[in-house]
Amino acid sequence: MSTVLITGCDYGIGFEFARQYAANGWTVHTTCLQSDSREKIDSLGANAVFHQLDVSDEGAVKALAKELSGTSIDLLINNAATFAPDGPGPLMLPDMDEFTRVMRVNAVAPVYVAECFVEHVAASEMKTMIFIGTRSGSIGDNGSGGHYAYRCSKAALNMAVKSISIEFADRGILAAVLHPGSVATETRTGGSGIPVSESVTGMRGVIEGITPDMTGTFQRYDGGTIEW
Ligand SMILES: NC(=O)c1ccc[n+]([C@@H]2O[C@H](COP(=O)([O-])OP(=O)(O)OC[C@H]3O[C@@H](n4cnc5c(N)ncnc54)[C@H](OP(=O)(O)O)[C@@H]3O)[C@@H](O)[C@H]2O)c1
Repeated sequence: MSTVLITGCDYGIGFEFARQYAANGWTVHTTCLQSDSREKIDSLGANAVFHQLDVSDEGAVKALAKELSGTSIDLLINNAATFAPDGPGPLMLPDMDEFTRVMRVNAVAPVYVAECFVEHVAASEMKTMIFIGTRSGSIGDNGSGGHYAYRCSKAALNMAVKSISIEFADRGILAAVLHPGSVATETRTGGSGIPVSESVTGMRGVIEGITPDMTGTFQRYDGGTIEW
């Protein structure tokens, strides 16, 4: 049976990925930011394994990779991400520390996770790395500005994934960015958007059908490519 490692499984899309893969009999290594998410993960069954991880803690990422050395990971889903509320100025920037924190979690950390887990993924059958991005990170699609920290972090992630797809191609690893759609997750106010189950079911379909020519691309949850 296949194995997946998913970051940011406390809530929302990450938790739903864990729920669906566990229900399908996969071995699911979940990472959660909060220690009290263990109970939720345990409720998914014996094939769901809880790990506490702040993805922006380089030492902790390395320690988890070491703990799981010898484990083949078919699918690595870099899902964890954070946001910053708008600030008061003309560009509505958060303060610089907050901007930098968002860059670290959303853009820098996934690259370190990819590097630390390359051997685990290379040793597997599927050899796939997925990075959850957003249309808000597309430069070509940016028609409204704003949300600097989030947009810039996800645009930087896009660049990193393109490079990772080139770097790891000779190991047979596929790397792609997926946009989950506008999803009504718990942290979203107003509850607008598609149900999280629909988004994750769609993304699982895209992942299942991924082919070598899709490495280094930016895909929608319901199929089709998004411009960088
Ligand atoms: N929802 C949407 O409409 C939408 C649209 C486009 C893209 N996305 C992307 O989809 C992914 C999941 O989003 P979501 O809507 O499910 O958001 P969410 O509910 O806020 O989930 C994000 C998860 O990442 C965790 N996290 C935050 N900082 C972390 C850190 N430093 N280390 C480890 N985990 C951390 C969060 O934990 P805590 O909650 O404990 O902080 C949470 O479990 C993100 O990459 C997001 O950018 C979402």
